[in-house]
Amino acid sequence: MTHQTGGSSADKPRREKTIALVGLMGAGKTTVGRRLAKRLRIPFYDADEEIEKAAGRTVSEIFDEFGEAHFRDGERKVIARLVDDGPCVLATGGGAFMNDQTRGLIKDRAVSVWLRVDLDILAERVSRRNTRPLLRGKNPRDVLEKLAETRDPAYGQADIVVDCGPGPHDTAVRAILQSLEQHGYART
Ligand code: S3P
Repeated sequence: MTHQTGGSSADKPRREKTIALVGLMGAGKTTVGRRLAKRLRIPFYDADEEIEKAAGRTVSEIFDEFGEAHFRDGERKVIARLVDDGPCVLATGGGAFMNDQTRGLIKDRAVSVWLRVDLDILAERVSRRNTRPLLRGKNPRDVLEKLAETRDPAYGQADIVVDCGPGPHDTAVRAILQSLEQHGYART
């Protein structure tokens, strides 16, 4: 269920590192991340939530009022702060790992985990909420398919890839824990 891609330059032992979850919208980064953090007994942060707190606005409002570039800038800064802020589980927004600087930082200082999920499952999940500006007024599956084409090569640079099926999020949590253990990051 899991496999390893290239390693990251480790200047800290892995067990002290932040675990950054990456992947498309609907992959379950927030839910899986929250449960993973509980199991590892380390704090959980959701990058989108932290951006919203800092801006006093929702992600949609930031996109509407200031544009995507402004959001991406905030995203880069928030993730830079959180990655260095002691070990935590960090759920990143779907586009964060596309930014070269952010990806470089995560690769260097964190253990990155790609939650890889089938497009049909993603499309079904994102359809339940209308809070994502990139999907507003569009066919979610079409958008996700295009995003997957451009983003999967970057996500594929994550240290660990976990294939998540349609089953419960706890299955993904278990798979990540197992893989982290294989990578020397065991804190169960
Ligand atoms: C985005 C994903 C969202 C959020 C924003 C843009 C993206 O986060 O950051 O709407 O570019 O894929 P989730 O992946 O948590 O939905």
